[in-house]
Amino acid sequence: MPRMGTLDGQVALVTGTSRGIGPAIAAALAAEGAHVLCHARTADAARRAAAAVNGSAVAGDLAVSEGVIAVARQVAALAPALHVLVHNAGVLRRGSAADTTREDVKACLDVNVLAPIELTRELLGPLRAAGHARVVVVSSTMGQLSSGMGGGSLPYRVSKAAVNAFVANTATELAPAGIIVNAMHPGWVRTDMGGAGATVTPEQAARTALYLAALPPGGQTGLFFRDCEQIAW
Ligand SMILES: NC(=O)c1ccc[n+]([C@@H]2O[C@H](COP(=O)([O-])OP(=O)(O)OC[C@H]3O[C@@H](n4cnc5c(N)ncnc54)[C@H](OP(=O)(O)O)[C@@H]3O)[C@@H](O)[C@H]2O)c1
Repeated sequence: MPRMGTLDGQVALVTGTSRGIGPAIAAALAAEGAHVLCHARTADAARRAAAAVNGSAVAGDLAVSEGVIAVARQVAALAPALHVLVHNAGVLRRGSAADTTREDVKACLDVNVLAPIELTRELLGPLRAAGHARVVVVSSTMGQLSSGMGGGSLPYRVSKAAVNAFVANTATELAPAGIIVNAMHPGWVRTDMGGAGATVTPEQAARTALYLAALPPGGQTGLFFRDCEQIAW
């Protein structure tokens, strides 16, 4: 008899599945029975990611509003009800108080903050239709205000602190609709962004995303997680 998955019959969208942590999150959700809509910037990359998990492909550039809206339209056409939305795509730009450029801050804000805000807004219909949807934002402790920031990577840190505010605020607003919204830190992950010296594999990082994607109705919301445990904002 086939194994029952915790996400059987559910549809999930994962952004940024062309490389890095995204493909591992897609695989973890698919292994639990979800039909995964794999997003990538290009149609070819999205098709490759979708083929790996028997999912469906959606494509668009998340750095611009038109790209975000195009992604939302493809998702709504494929999934009238969207149970899980994982905002994983992200960019890292470095810089200090002395040399950060407006262009670098804007690049981080566009993909790391404005895309999750717009994509969530555009997908509210399918999320509401799911009855009990979970939104997961792959953030970073580099946006954690309570621990005191270490300096450097100013554009990235500002964007992750901002997206954390989006999570806390939106979780309150969407709770009456039964939609759970949480942020997570994946660890220091061995990807193009994290580098070869990083200590965590994408598969290990995906565990927290799966944990948050499978939270039950009435589960924790508006919180920040690492290794499946709540951490301070
Ligand atoms: N790696 C770490 O140590 C670490 C630590 C903390 C948090 N995080 C967070 O984890 C998430 C995934 O990071 P990662 O390490 O997997 O990074 P990565 O290897 O650099 O991959 C980034 C992903 O985001 C996509 N992306 C970037 N800009 C995009 C755009 N404009 N439109 C569409 N897709 C876009 C990339 O697509 P393309 O291939 O088309 O560029 C790629 O799929 C990010 O949100 C990151 O901030 C990572």
